[in-house]
Parts: sequence; C-alpha cells; structure tokens
Amino acid sequence: MSRPRIGIVTASTRPTRIGHHVAAWVGGLAPEDVELVAVDLRELALPLLDEPEMPSEGHYAHEHTRRWAALVESLDAVVLVMPEYNRGYNAALKNAIDYLYAEWDGMPVACVGYGWSGAQYARSALRQTLERIRMVVVDGAALHFEQTLDLDGTVHADDEATEDVRRMFGSLTAAVSARGAASA
Ligand SMILES: Cc1cc2nc3c(=O)[nH]c(=O)nc-3n(C[C@H](O)[C@H](O)[C@H](O)COP(=O)(O)O)c2cc1C
Repeated sequence: MSRPRIGIVTASTRPTRIGHHVAAWVGGLAPEDVELVAVDLRELALPLLDEPEMPSEGHYAHEHTRRWAALVESLDAVVLVMPEYNRGYNAALKNAIDYLYAEWDGMPVACVGYGWSGAQYARSALRQTLERIRMVVVDGAALHFEQTLDLDGTVHADDEATEDVRRMFGSLTAAVSARGAASA
C-alpha cells in the first residue's frame, strides 16, 4: 500500500495564534511511512457556510467548496489540531467541517487539543460532531498550558504526550489500512 496521506489541520485562524506551533510539533512526530499534508484553515479562508444546498446532497455551487472537497478527498486521514474557546471548539473548524459531508464519511480522524485543561471540553464536543458525520475517531493527544505548552506555543511535551501522538499516528495508519481492506 502507498504511504497514507494524513492532513494535519491547523484549526485556529487568529492572527496571533499558536496553533501552527502545535501542528509543527505533531508533524515532527509522524513516522516516515506517512505522507503529511499541512492544512491551514486560515489560508483556506472559507466564508461562513454559503452553499445553497445541504452538504449531504454533494452539489457544491462554489469554487471554494469544490477546492476544499478535493483537498479532503485527497486525504486518507486527518489530525485536527485545535484550541478550546469558551469550552467549545473554534468556529472556523466547525464551519470547515459543516461544508462537506460524504468526504468525511468513514475517514479516520484524531484530535490534538491544547488549552488550560488540554481542551477537554472542546475535544468532547468535537467528538460528537465527528461521530455524527461518521468519521472513525481514534484517540489523540492533549497539551496543557503551564505543563506541556507555553502561552507562546512552545511545546515541552512530556513522555505521555509524545507517546500519545506516536500512538495516534499508529492508530490512524491502522484505521486507514482497515478501511482500504474493507473496500477492496
Ligand atoms: C475566544 C477565546 C476563548 C477562550 N476560551 C478558552 C477556554 O474555554 N479554555 C481554555 O483552555 N482556553 C481558552 N482560551 C485561551 C486559549 O486556549 C489560548 O488563547 C490559545 O492560545 C488559543 O489557541 P490559538 O492561539 O491557536 O488560537 C480562549 C481564547 C480565546 C481567544
């Protein structure tokens, strides 16, 4: 099988964000037998959902939606690197998810959350959304301010967080293989 293409999604779009530092740390722990694709929701710059039809219809009127759908379609799995805002996950991530439907179906996904409590509330809320769109959720990882992450985005990962990310890549690769075997 060719190397699985795994998208590392930087979900935060704030001008002073730290999410890209966390995404870089995650990507640095990927094994050599995966192909990483950096996906930056700030660069993607999707407007608030403006498709006239339900995404589940799969008829996309706008070029920005078709571009986003093609990018997601080209991936075998995604890692969502996400902050916690007011005990939820950020709006740009929800918007990007809501744009599509069939493209997510059955795709393996993991979350790496960061925040004061390791983004536990955001990760829990996101899990419900990911299950609703029938993604295959595997365990991710969490970084906590003043423990494994500085406010400026410098990561001081301990063994547990590092091991969680390594295990996550293993679980994603296994889920991609299982999906491929099931559809062969
Ligand atoms: C609107 C907003 C709400 C926030 N709410 C939370 C929160 O509920 N829990 C938390 O741990 N951190 C919260 N924070 C602090 C963020 O964890 C911190 O700013 C982090 O750097 C955000 O990630 P980003 O810089 O990649 O956007 C909030 C930050 C913002 C901007």
